[in-house]
Amino acid sequence: MSVQVQAFAEGETAGRALAAALELPFGLVRSHRFPDGELLPTVPGARPCVIVYRSLDSPNDKLIELVLACEAWRRLGARRLVLVAPYLAYMRQDRAFAPGQAVSQRAVAGLLSHSFDRLLSVDPHLHRIAALKEVFGDMPAESISAAACIGDWLASEGAPADVALIGPDEESARLVRAVAERLGADWTVMAKTRRGDRQVELGPIEPQAVQGREVVLVDDICSSGATLMAAAREALSLGARRVRAVVVHALFNDSTALRLRSAGIGQVVSTDSVSHPTNRIRLAPVLAETLAEEMRR
Ligand code: R5P
Repeated sequence: MSVQVQAFAEGETAGRALAAALELPFGLVRSHRFPDGELLPTVPGARPCVIVYRSLDSPNDKLIELVLACEAWRRLGARRLVLVAPYLAYMRQDRAFAPGQAVSQRAVAGLLSHSFDRLLSVDPHLHRIAALKEVFGDMPAESISAAACIGDWLASEGAPADVALIGPDEESARLVRAVAERLGADWTVMAKTRRGDRQVELGPIEPQAVQGREVVLVDDICSSGATLMAAAREALSLGARRVRAVVVHALFNDSTALRLRSAGIGQVVSTDSVSHPTNRIRLAPVLAETLAEEMRR
């Protein structure tokens, strides 16, 4: 089947990198916003298979625009639409935590599975379920982990032999363990209680896990920064020599970046899942490995 990669303006660099890694042509989807706020995407044609690159940070307009673009791709002859969303929004709301709340994870999965034939994401935030396919039902949905890329990046930076990798909560354990195994480093996780959107409390860890050592905090997401700031303060109060952080999805703004620095985090690095000034780790090679089978269909 003939395949093309397409992306929207905000993902053009990463979309082009993916197309290059797959040795496929690239097309840019143009976006228009009407004065009343309605959106109109214009797609650059459609091959029988279109791999659509769009990370779903700031997701609300992007989701609607994707649904509209799918209408155009299908009408122009696409038979297979593959969504590559390195960051997949709304996965954290995986149950109604209070009466009347939406289970956003389920609703967004329903929307995407109605429009696409396959979904690929990177370290989606899955807490109470083991795999994306449990959320997406009949539509094939899979995720890859950035752990190997993160481990290789830390190794290339010359992480010291006594480096300690710390996950700020239980949910980060899978990612932190995988990075630590790649690097051959010690790791542990803290216990987190979230008190509000910007307020978290962390339980204590054994001082010897960080005392006198370089600490790298590893988490899937940094949004308000509250989690990393609390983890950094804890590590520094226990005598960590230096604290850095690596996240898969950088969802934070400039003022949060300043607060992270004030909390003692010397460097924050992210994958290019979401376009961000902290991007240092490229995902295109690992995404391309998983998508190569699209050309064999
Ligand atoms: C949730 O538990 C995630 O793994 C992250 O720790 C969380 O989303 C980070 O959010 P924030 O930066 O707002 O603390």
